[in-house]
Amino acid sequence: MKILFHALALPLAFHFLSLAHAIPSPEAAHGGSAQATNTTDDAMTITPRQSSCLSTGTQSTINALFSSGGANTIVSLCPGVTIPITAPVVFTAPGQELSTQGYPTDSSRATILIQPGSTVTSAIRGNWQNNVKVLNIQVDGNQPNAGYFGGDALLEMACGRMGSITGATDGGIVIFGSPGSHILRNTITSSSSGLQFGGINMVDPTWSGNYSGVVVSSNTITGGPGSFINLGIGMGSQVWSNPHPETNFGQVTVTNNVFTGNVGFSIVMNGWLGGLTVTGNSVSGVTTPSSSFASASGCGAVQQAAFADSEQLVYYPAGVTGSSGPNVIQSQFTALSTNASNWLCLTNPAPPLPDTKSFLPNTLSVDASTSRVVSLRDFHVQVQGDGNVVGIDTTGGVWTVKWASSRFSSACGPDGSQCLLAFGIDGNFVMYDGNGPLWASGTDGSGQLLTFSREPPWVTVTGSNGQTLWTIGNL
Ligand SMILES: *[C@@H]1O[C@H](CO)[C@@H](O)[C@H](O)[C@H]1NC(C)=O
Ligand SMILES: *[C@@H]1O[C@H](CO)[C@@H](O)[C@H](O)[C@H]1NC(C)=O
Ligand SMILES: *[C@@H]1O[C@H](CO)[C@@H](O)[C@H](O)[C@H]1NC(C)=O
Repeated sequence: MKILFHALALPLAFHFLSLAHAIPSPEAAHGGSAQATNTTDDAMTITPRQSSCLSTGTQSTINALFSSGGANTIVSLCPGVTIPITAPVVFTAPGQELSTQGYPTDSSRATILIQPGSTVTSAIRGNWQNNVKVLNIQVDGNQPNAGYFGGDALLEMACGRMGSITGATDGGIVIFGSPGSHILRNTITSSSSGLQFGGINMVDPTWSGNYSGVVVSSNTITGGPGSFINLGIGMGSQVWSNPHPETNFGQVTVTNNVFTGNVGFSIVMNGWLGGLTVTGNSVSGVTTPSSSFASASGCGAVQQAAFADSEQLVYYPAGVTGSSGPNVIQSQFTALSTNASNWLCLTNPAPPLPDTKSFLPNTLSVDASTSRVVSLRDFHVQVQGDGNVVGIDTTGGVWTVKWASSRFSSACGPDGSQCLLAFGIDGNFVMYDGNGPLWASGTDGSGQLLTFSREPPWVTVTGSNGQTLWTIGNL
């Protein structure tokens, strides 16, 4: 039918519509010619078990097909096509399927591509429709162009078998409490930029946290390069950034998933009741150390310790108990002794500190109550409460004083605030204490730039031609 529609001219389209009019229905009876423009050929042709494929369209095309087709409608995308979307594809009835024709497993899988500039954070939504399937599809979050949006997951499925996902935005797949979902043979890849939260998440207590019969197997979750996945698979009410008092439950199988590249934590489990089988998952391809691609500085102590050890598989045994079935958990898991939640805490690593830092006149004024003058790479300069100004190398956590002004004062005040180091508006670099200037560079009228460096000569004042007027060694 689809082929007929594409091949045949408009008059025949009306002919088909007249056939539709023969079927008594309120829409058909009153649609008139206006309905012709709204009734797409695809809407006419895609029916359950239909064998032709959709070669072009947007989310509107697919959504119209699902809406009109009802339960068990299969929307089959032609191999190799890219469907640009500016809003989610939405399943509307049980048993609906979105797939690539012929179910290829290679790059000929059809791609759902989030359009640049759109604010879509979920590409496909199947919320609370039973037995929905997404098979052999690639979903591209188009992150570098579409930007980062907080909030949703790339695929939000109540129940379903997934295809393949690349460029997840916030979470790759969120399985809302939904018995019987199958998440099989997907590829979830973080995009080339942006913060990636989760790959597959079973953390929400929606539908009272019932995940009975969920199977998550043979998925590949890859972070980076240039980005990372914070958490590959999160299981339990105590894993997400907003832990819930409810405990998720159900006999769930998480097997033979492969984690590679920049993944902060591969599997974390806490807040689960009843029968987990978590075996055969591979983390050997994950980038180590984790600190090479992410920072845990915003995490709790437990997460920081696990991150520092590049622990990929962690669970809290007391938070993963089996009342309706046994737990079978692969031996590589690290058992936490603390009930730690919020594993979505990783951030991009702080940018490296500079080797030098310069100040124009009148832009530096630091007293000994603040102490820190500048922070450089493995190096900092501080004003001490005794008036001494020192440059300290901190490489490897070992503090080595590289230089010191060695001009001490007993007039810094009880909190040190009377000892003030300033590069004045006149270009003079001066150390004051409660009695007045303690020492100065003497570059008033000629000093243009004050530079601190982690290398000798450490501190310099330069003039208008960049010539060195003074260094800390001149003191
Ligand atoms: C056709 O679609 C337009 C835009 O969605 C809508 O305003 C109009 O009512 C539709 N016409 C019919 C006959 O459904
Ligand atoms: C959880 O879902 C399964 C499958 O639908 C069902 O058999 C079971 O009764 C549910 N459990 C609870 C406690 O609701
Ligand atoms: C872990 O902490 C959460 C939040 O306080 C709590 O709801 C949960 O019961 C705790 N888990 C265990 C096993 O004590």
